[in-house]
Amino acid sequence: MLSGRRIVLGVTGGVAAYKAAYLARRLVEAGATVRCVMTEAAAEFLGGQTLAAITGDHPIEGFWDEADVSPHTDLGQWAEALVIAPATAATIAKLAVGLSDNVLLATALATEAPVVVAPAMHTEMWDNPATRRNIATLQNDGRIIVGPATGALAGGDSGRGRMAEPEEIVAELAAVLQGDLQGVRVLVTAGGTREAIDPVRYIGNHSSGKMGNAVALEALRRGAIVTLITSARPPVEGGIEVIEVESAQEMAEAAWERAPLVDIAIMAAAVADFRPKIVEGEKLRRSDGIPSIELEPTPDILGGVAASPDRPFLVGFAAETGSLDGALHKATTKGVDLLVANDVTKQDSGFATDTNEVTIYTPDGAAAHLPLLSKREVAAILWDRIRESRSQG
Ligand SMILES: Cc1cc2nc3c(=O)[nH]c(=O)nc-3n(C[C@H](O)[C@H](O)[C@H](O)COP(=O)(O)O)c2cc1C
Repeated sequence: MLSGRRIVLGVTGGVAAYKAAYLARRLVEAGATVRCVMTEAAAEFLGGQTLAAITGDHPIEGFWDEADVSPHTDLGQWAEALVIAPATAATIAKLAVGLSDNVLLATALATEAPVVVAPAMHTEMWDNPATRRNIATLQNDGRIIVGPATGALAGGDSGRGRMAEPEEIVAELAAVLQGDLQGVRVLVTAGGTREAIDPVRYIGNHSSGKMGNAVALEALRRGAIVTLITSARPPVEGGIEVIEVESAQEMAEAAWERAPLVDIAIMAAAVADFRPKIVEGEKLRRSDGIPSIELEPTPDILGGVAASPDRPFLVGFAAETGSLDGALHKATTKGVDLLVANDVTKQDSGFATDTNEVTIYTPDGAAAHLPLLSKREVAAILWDRIRESRSQG
């Protein structure tokens, strides 16, 4: 699967740098062409000659000492994937803010290829809030994080922070380059709808669209052709067809038109259940007294897709407050293949956060509860579940 693929291996200055030599060897054995970049600190841990002997090419260590006048742009354009293993806390922090003061960081900025990051550090460094923030930023930027694993660390310590094994990194690279959703057509809805009261005001909700964006980006990373219908801010990354809507009616029309054309539909938007029956033509004024606003139901978008004859594999989302009983009911009665439920009253979960704690239901009512994870991690697990369900169905 990696035969003939062009991989840039970036090595940073942690004890696990010695494992980068083994990783390089596994990549070469798998048929990849490997070029290496080392940070100054990495060269303290691993001799460049070792990587040169394994890959057949001298690693690049500095901007100015190479025959190549612009090593970072050349490498960035050449790479089909960049893997940084091990990735120190320092390099992860620099990647998160977009610094480019060494060839490896500059290559990461200059490339459009997927970037796989394998962190390695002591548990305290991994658990530090700064590292947690930086990792979440990288995930939101679409970087793929592999590991770290739990086990023996340098200095006789043990805990989480050990670099993922080279075999695991090779497998992740193969998945990234192959893309398990290659050519699959995917529709995602995101954001909270706005139901107009008058030309100024609306009934809305707190949805930020972040969960739907994460689902769309993960599908893109896996090779899908993605359409995102959203009432929120779409991802800044290119490659996704974005249809912007505002109300439940607009979202329903767009979703019902697109759903029969796709293989998988993920309905992650927080759609209003009710809307004002009459939208005032002019702004309601305080001087006219307290208005009485009669509501009517909005279209049932999920139900409409589930009932369509060419229905795609269908995943619904349910935002609940407190009990998840409503989500369980929805999973077993709505005609979905999977239902993702979350309690939006929980801290760090639900609307506008970068993390989410969800339960994934199947139509028979079976539930899989996930811990609090970044929305990107939730999206990755959800796509793994979808792949399993589709292969069984
Ligand atoms: C013996 C030793 C071991 C180290 N191991 C790690 C490590 O495993 N992970 C890490 O994040 N930093 C580690 N560091 C600190 C990094 O080497 C340091 O932050 C350096 O600036 C990283 O630079 P780089 O990311 O550009 O390679 C270690 C330092 C020393 C002296």
